[in-house]
Amino acid sequence: MTDNIPDTMHAVVLTGHGGLDKMEFHRDWPVPVPGPDDVLIRVAACGLNNTDVNTRSAWYSKGNSDATTGDALAGAEGDDGTWGGASVSFPRIQGADAVGTVVSVGESAEQSLIGQRVMIDGWLRDWDDPLNRSKAGYFGSECDGGYAQYTKVSHRQVHPIHTAMSDAELATFACSYVTAENMLNRAAVTAGDTVLVTGASGGVGSALIQLANRRGAECVALCSADKVDDVKAIGPSAVIDRGCADLGSALLEAMGKDSVDVVADVVGGALWPQLISALVRGGRYTCAGAIAGPMVEFDLRTFYLRDLTFTGATVPPPGVFEDLVGYIERGEIRPLLAATYPLEELHAAQQAFIDKRHVGNIVTEPFPPATSRTHA
Ligand SMILES: NC(=O)c1ccc[n+]([C@@H]2O[C@H](COP(=O)([O-])OP(=O)(O)OC[C@H]3O[C@@H](n4cnc5c(N)ncnc54)[C@H](OP(=O)(O)O)[C@@H]3O)[C@@H](O)[C@H]2O)c1
Repeated sequence: MTDNIPDTMHAVVLTGHGGLDKMEFHRDWPVPVPGPDDVLIRVAACGLNNTDVNTRSAWYSKGNSDATTGDALAGAEGDDGTWGGASVSFPRIQGADAVGTVVSVGESAEQSLIGQRVMIDGWLRDWDDPLNRSKAGYFGSECDGGYAQYTKVSHRQVHPIHTAMSDAELATFACSYVTAENMLNRAAVTAGDTVLVTGASGGVGSALIQLANRRGAECVALCSADKVDDVKAIGPSAVIDRGCADLGSALLEAMGKDSVDVVADVVGGALWPQLISALVRGGRYTCAGAIAGPMVEFDLRTFYLRDLTFTGATVPPPGVFEDLVGYIERGEIRPLLAATYPLEELHAAQQAFIDKRHVGNIVTEPFPPATSRTHA
């Protein structure tokens, strides 16, 4: 390490499954020491995501069947509390969407990375078997992440980025946009497809709109009534209030047709049967989340009689992150930064994220400039 890297840092540490009180702010947490393949990053900003909320509350546990609320969940177990179905080891620093500057590198990592502004691809892989999804882990879940002043990660996961966007803006992208692009790839979305996007005001949903548009598909977005105008500004062809009585009629009114080629869903829950009914014969359903509830009513007849294709989307193949960096650098997508919070205020930031009065994403800053706060 170089001389100006401190021994201790500010970090938010998750101490176990439960409520927000399980996230503790420390001023004297040890700065990580990079291994031979790692780089050490001075974190400038780190975006929020639902994996953090779901892991903290043990929402992923098969003992839970409720919507995401962020509360500690009765019946959920700690031994299957991560996205991958394994247990988490505590203490754990969460936070997947870190952006920062490389300040030192391990002996086998590229020296030229020092001083570069980088985004982090959150997917930990076995680099001798990178396509093997069962060997994948996630930054901030299976290893410490970005809710700290410094973090370490394999040099293979850092991507230098050249853009005028701020660090906080860049920290809105990684998890949501890689997930959304992977969903569109899995559903083979191309120009001419009509894609119905759920949760369209959120991180993945707003990414789906932008990324489907950039490949020439047409989007129809579902969101709550008070966010319709903000979601329209992201660029879908039509926006439908998710409280509508009948989705088919709402589609007909908004689009002049009552069916779509693709449903890209991160919400699930009570509306799910109507999402499936809205698919054309031969349509594709792709899913990466179930924020309104993972247990849905599934009529197998609709599935097979309509020749539907279903894809789940979580671990993307290598290459999706590199594509995302290109879209950002060429200005093909834009950030939707709703608010920034000092890292010290992660409880308030995560509560705002759970309350969902925002559009886009919320970001923390571990070295906040005095003028940086953008929330009230
Ligand atoms: N598989 C993966 O790798 C992966 C990666 C990222 C995210 N995810 C999952 O995908 C889901 C969405 O993630 P995100 O980051 O986009 O979340 P987000 O930013 O929190 O957005 C979710 C959106 O869903 C809508 N929503 C919330 N509660 C709802 C409810 N009860 N019923 C209907 N809509 C509701 C909200 O919009 P409106 O109120 O406007 O409808 C909200 O903006 C989460 O479950 C997350 O865990 C999975």
